[in-house]
Amino acid sequence: MEKIIKPPQTNKKPNMEITVTAEPNNNASHNNHIAPETIKVRAENIDVFYGTKQALFDVNIDIPEKTVTAFIGPSGCGKSTFLRCINRMNDTIDTCRVEGKILIDNENINDKSIDPVMLRAAVGMVFQKPNPFPKSIYENVAYGPRIHGLAHKKADFDVIIEKSLRKAGLWDEVKDRLDSPGTGLSGGQQQRLVIARAIAVNPEIILMDEPCSALDPIATAKIEELIDELRANYSIIIVTHSMSQAARVSQRTAFFHLGKLVEVGPTEQMFTNPKDTRTQDYITGRFG
Ligand SMILES: Nc1ncnc2c1ncn2[C@@H]1O[C@H](COP(=O)(O)OP(=O)(O)OP(=O)(O)O)[C@@H](O)[C@H]1O
Ligand SMILES: [Mg+2]
Repeated sequence: MEKIIKPPQTNKKPNMEITVTAEPNNNASHNNHIAPETIKVRAENIDVFYGTKQALFDVNIDIPEKTVTAFIGPSGCGKSTFLRCINRMNDTIDTCRVEGKILIDNENINDKSIDPVMLRAAVGMVFQKPNPFPKSIYENVAYGPRIHGLAHKKADFDVIIEKSLRKAGLWDEVKDRLDSPGTGLSGGQQQRLVIARAIAVNPEIILMDEPCSALDPIATAKIEELIDELRANYSIIIVTHSMSQAARVSQRTAFFHLGKLVEVGPTEQMFTNPKDTRTQDYITGRFG
């Protein structure tokens, strides 16, 4: 995560040394143990409050690299709140207070040496409703590389834009209309444009909060295929209300209930043989 710690064009004081030994992070949930060398994100004792109301209670989880992890659970259980802990988006909510530790590649993201803007480039986020900027398709993707100084010449931007749109599976559909507004695309195309925009700044982690809930089944299938391709290079966390989507796209699933992480494990096992009756009840549609 060097690029988060050492933003280009600054000569800030040296990073603090942080050493963290990856011991099994098992205290709150079943099957949380994954090989230490594959841990991309580790959450330790995360409590989140909105004012005096507590939204998350002592969440401990390890999230592996280059894997799709699905977060499932009833509305209001804290999935989005937890997702926002991973790129410090909760910092932007006045009433919100986060306690505990999030480590990415063993570095504490709340350390003073971490620049939240760089962090949010390394940990991209895709929302439920596609949110392209009111700019051209080209400019939507160029935006991040420009503010992060990743390119200067037009030819360099052109390369990044084509590469990002290709990775997002959108290039062939838009290559002849790069100057048209991003908002003129279909919902599914807009969602892939937003994914291209996230990819353009070389993220390592992509957080997706119900990315398909505003899309039709065909657009959804395209995004799911894309997620499956992206996991070769990125660690992906997807929040979904669709059990079938979680089963299709993820290798690991975490079940949240009333602000607690109840259980996390390999997706197949979570859906066929959950350990906790609350997980069983949720996946079989008994509540939520
Ligand atoms: N900005 C906020 N201010 C106050 N309370 C909030 C805020 N955002 C979320 N909450 C509360 O925190 C709890 C968790 O909300 P969160 O949005 O994380 O749930 P969720 O699992 O993502 O739900 P959904 O599936 O409906 O998106 C809820 O009780 C919610 O009302
Ligand atoms: Mg949510």
